[in-house]
Amino acid sequence: MEIFHISAECYPIAKVGGLADVVGALPKYQSNAGHRVRVVVPCYDTKFRKENEFECVHWGHVKLGNFNFPFNVLKETTDRLGFELYQIEIPELFDRKDVYGHQDDIERFLSFQIATLDWIIGRNEMPDVINCHDHHTGLIPFMMLYCHKYNRLQYTPSMITIHNGLYQGQFSFDKLYYVPEFDLSHVNVLEWGNCINSLAVAIKCAWAVTTVSPNYLNEINFSANGLEALFNMVRYKSKGILNGIDIEVWDPATDTALEKNYSIKNYEVGKQENKEKLCKLFNLDPTKPLFSFIGRLLEEKGGDLLPHASAVALSENYQKLNILILGSGNSMIESQLSSLLQDYKGNYNAFIGYNEELAHLIYAGADFLLMPSRVEPCGLNQMYSMRYGTIPIVRRTGGLKDTVIDFGDGGNGICHDQATVGDVCYSIQRAIKLYDDKKQLNKIRKMGMNTDHSWERVCQEYIEMYKQIIDKR
Ligand code: GLC
Repeated sequence: MEIFHISAECYPIAKVGGLADVVGALPKYQSNAGHRVRVVVPCYDTKFRKENEFECVHWGHVKLGNFNFPFNVLKETTDRLGFELYQIEIPELFDRKDVYGHQDDIERFLSFQIATLDWIIGRNEMPDVINCHDHHTGLIPFMMLYCHKYNRLQYTPSMITIHNGLYQGQFSFDKLYYVPEFDLSHVNVLEWGNCINSLAVAIKCAWAVTTVSPNYLNEINFSANGLEALFNMVRYKSKGILNGIDIEVWDPATDTALEKNYSIKNYEVGKQENKEKLCKLFNLDPTKPLFSFIGRLLEEKGGDLLPHASAVALSENYQKLNILILGSGNSMIESQLSSLLQDYKGNYNAFIGYNEELAHLIYAGADFLLMPSRVEPCGLNQMYSMRYGTIPIVRRTGGLKDTVIDFGDGGNGICHDQATVGDVCYSIQRAIKLYDDKKQLNKIRKMGMNTDHSWERVCQEYIEMYKQIIDKR
């Protein structure tokens, strides 16, 4: 089968969050399973672009209303990623370091989508299926169905995979003229909430809708930032497929970012050495349990709870635990976290920023990983942490609920229900007790390390979904 994945992020090319990890891994496993898989992402100003070889396989001009931007389609030549990588180079719009957060993001991602379809339509063969990811690619299923210049793609099935329904790529009808020509009788398809809503458009037009966990699919039927009714309407073509993780990139036995590699056979020694390294780096106490948070410091991830919860836990249990935070995001949360350092030196530290290598070392060296998310469509960090023998402490929501069960119920982690400082601190108390019960602690660590979250198993579910929509054609 020939599969196209179209996305704003893909690891290791450009990563902001878990979307990149999924788009960097799923295609590789689909490729291993014998399919021809191509991944298309914009060409940002990244280290990856500078350090790798590309050949130009197509060029043209993308027309966005009255603007015309030259673009190139660059193919990475070594195929070392395990799939074919194509980057759409539109210098005026994407030759920048940050993936998101620009005033012209609507123009940027619309141009990316149009350029991608312009290129695909110029090829001899049409793909078997186009898998779009999140709102940045949400107009593609619409354009394939209705835009005159893409009518050769009318019968090519498209699927939208939703990694986060909070972000929807809305823009005003003033910019309707950006969308390539289509029969205006279909204009209402673009509308949701009095504007053009890219994610809603994809949900309406894609032949299938997937979310990144089954429980998230249940939740968005009653909480989806205004899209609830729409999700209810398309239930018949929707499925929740739990993400996998790339077990080659995330393997404590071979991970080059670790101080010491380890497996389930010697994880106690292995974890301890990594913990000592971390504690040395961050001035922490290696004899005490180490709690960590890794990720974006946003309300959605419960990032706003961290400063207060850390202060409470460190005051009540002073010198009984360490807390180490790695992340960036909301500047107020960042500065609150930095200022805690004065009061809790020796038991607390925070690295404000993004650091992939350090994240790996933390998964290996920490004892517990905090994920107090308000919204978590799937969550990958709990799976990485379990693979490294680190026990996740999660709020029961989205994919966290699908993957973590409280040890009180015989499970692999610690769970709470509310996104509150009280609930987080109560879980921390339980973890400290658990840390002293080495037999129980090791049982839970091993359970995590033995869990199979590999894409090998999961990627078949995607293929089944594609087959279903191909059969509908
Ligand atoms: C988004 C979601 C996260 C999910 C990831 C990959 O970042 O917030 O929960 O795991 O996408 O699908």
